[in-house]
Amino acid sequence: MNIAWLQLPDALDQARLPMPPATADFLQVAQLANLVTSLFWGTNDFYVSPENQLAGATARQDMRTHHAVARVADRIIGYAALSLPFEPTADPTAQPRTAEVRVVVHPDFRRQGVGSALLQEAEAEAARRGRSVLQSWTDNALLDPAAVGSGPVFVTGTSLQTGLTPVVRPENKPDDGPVTVRRQAPDARFAAAHGYGLAQVEVVSVLELRGAAGAALRAESGSSAAQDHGYEVVGWQGSCPEEDAADLAELLGRMATEAPAGEVERASEAWDVDRLRAEERAREGMGLTVITTAVRDRATGRLAGHSDIETFADLPQAAYQGNTLVHPEHRGLGLALLLKAANVSRLLRHRPEADRLYTWNAAENRAILRANGELGFVPVATHPAWQKPL
Ligand SMILES: CC(C)(COP(=O)(O)OP(=O)(O)OC[C@H]1O[C@@H](n2cnc3c(N)ncnc32)[C@H](O)[C@@H]1OP(=O)(O)O)[C@@H](O)C(=O)NCCC(=O)NCCS
Repeated sequence: MNIAWLQLPDALDQARLPMPPATADFLQVAQLANLVTSLFWGTNDFYVSPENQLAGATARQDMRTHHAVARVADRIIGYAALSLPFEPTADPTAQPRTAEVRVVVHPDFRRQGVGSALLQEAEAEAARRGRSVLQSWTDNALLDPAAVGSGPVFVTGTSLQTGLTPVVRPENKPDDGPVTVRRQAPDARFAAAHGYGLAQVEVVSVLELRGAAGAALRAESGSSAAQDHGYEVVGWQGSCPEEDAADLAELLGRMATEAPAGEVERASEAWDVDRLRAEERAREGMGLTVITTAVRDRATGRLAGHSDIETFADLPQAAYQGNTLVHPEHRGLGLALLLKAANVSRLLRHRPEADRLYTWNAAENRAILRANGELGFVPVATHPAWQKPL
């Protein structure tokens, strides 16, 4: 086995034959990424096309991803993706200290030291690039696959049929107590074996959209938050209207520091309209359309909060909850639930073909988890954050 850093192609020239080697290498990485997520979930709801994986690695000015690959002959059997956040407007010496790593090893090659070798290479590269805090987010099943046997498993309360990873079985529905990370699972064992501590637990929940209209409508129409306190509910698909762009950029800038982060080190992010527009162009290139609902404070005409959902042109059955943020001066009025419910209704109107909406929330964020429960979301896995100072 040897380990090397990939030279990423400028574009995936899949139509050109013979296929350029950089394209073939990146396609191997992209296929391995999709194999491992679909084995975990038993669905292709998290499929990311090779083109979008490449765009995710290269097209954003505030994030760059490098890939170290482990090869046996010409076959890539594992990779480490090392993502470095950049602050576009900060001076080069004031860049974030953090780097994110994701190690993936093909199931046929596990427990042979491949993952450890990749992680060691990624850590060394992060240090060379001046990063001193390594972070990793993994998928952790709520139940042990071995304990519940193989075969199709249904997620409680939904028609989501999973394959190899039992997410939740109807008879094992977790009670309303806190959802916890399974420390015996491979991701947790691997993290612990390499000195990573659990920095935060995110709960992954799914909403079955076919039956979601009623609860969303009840939450939306049952809320008098907007009328009582003088807000107007507005929304759009795709890029933000010019009149609201500066306000939305400010709200997005708050996300980095105001969303609960547990022990996860988060660098502050400076957002302005230019950064928002650059992000929107990058999304558009990936066939990613964001569906947004916001509340406007009638007294000032300014946005007081927003909630957004991501949809992909090449994955119409799934949608992903993005940010939900209420400006600190407008909290405690019930706007978050209203925003989320109204945005689910907007999703149902604009994407009637979507089956499932996924969301990731900090386990300590009880208010949002309660709001999710009201809308019909069911917890299906955790997404723990691991962190290690180098
Ligand atoms: C986690 C993952 C990368 C491990 O890859 P790997 O090549 O099997 O890892 P290694 O062989 O280097 O394992 C190193 C140590 O991690 C721990 N470990 C890894 N997998 C384990 C498992 N299934 N059960 C228990 N311990 C495990 C052990 O301590 C192991 O050392 P040992 O084999 O000497 O006991 C692999 O299972 C994977 O790709 N999982 C899906 C993606 C993922 O969760 N990535 C998380 C890391 S960012």
